[in-house]
Amino acid sequence: MDRTKILVPDFIKKKQSSEKIVMLTAFDATIARLLDQAGIDALLVGDSLGMVALGHETTLPVTMEEMIHYTLAVSRGAQHALVIADMPFLSYQIGVDDAVKNAGLMLKHGGASAVKIEGGRSVIEVVTRFVEVGIPVMGHLGVLPQSVHKTGGYAKRGIIPEEADQIMKDAMALEEAGAFSIVLEAIPDGLAAAVTQEIKIPTIGIGAGPGCDGQVLVTSDMLGLLERVPSFVKEYARLGPEIVQAVQLYVDEVHIGVFPAAIDQK
Ligand code: KIV
Repeated sequence: MDRTKILVPDFIKKKQSSEKIVMLTAFDATIARLLDQAGIDALLVGDSLGMVALGHETTLPVTMEEMIHYTLAVSRGAQHALVIADMPFLSYQIGVDDAVKNAGLMLKHGGASAVKIEGGRSVIEVVTRFVEVGIPVMGHLGVLPQSVHKTGGYAKRGIIPEEADQIMKDAMALEEAGAFSIVLEAIPDGLAAAVTQEIKIPTIGIGAGPGCDGQVLVTSDMLGLLERVPSFVKEYARLGPEIVQAVQLYVDEVHIGVFPAAIDQK
């Protein structure tokens, strides 16, 4: 496929020309290369890697060192897609200087072109400073996985009018502070569409309906690698059972001596 490298300003251009933005998560170079080949606009090295790749219960244990390590692998595999690195829990909440240093490391050592942080007005100072020093930043509103202990789970947000109003105000504040895009996670379709119409920067939805400027999914969910997926996920393949089947065949063939086939010794 003949494609040019996607840059941060292309996100705004795509919104202006009503071209949908398509994003998936990636944690290693091989998957990054395959997703890139398939025409993905952006690869998010999400802190969901804590659950998907590292086997944690939540995203909270993920460290800066791990994020840089996985981001660098994805950057090596991505030729065209924009690589965006999630800032892990406690890497941007302690102080603005600390946040700038950590975000800078994602670009400097991870090869990312942008970072993503969770929250709206509560992180505006951080967003403003990132933009001032040249670090493109994507916001994240709705369900905030790093606040799972505060909210008590991953249930849809913005259902009651007061919360919907807060999400709208947070989105406007992120735009004003210079964020280049916002992920809207698990909020009502109508609210996501209203936010999308209200702001000039693109919204990327996950469980937020078709009214967003783009969509993101966790790759292992949409490829059917896991046993259970959130209700909003469409499984475009069921690779989990196929992997088990292929490996079972390999196990059997090694046991019975079919693999490897004997090579004639001359
Ligand atoms: O960590 C992640 O994968 C994310 C997506 C769910 C947007 O933040």
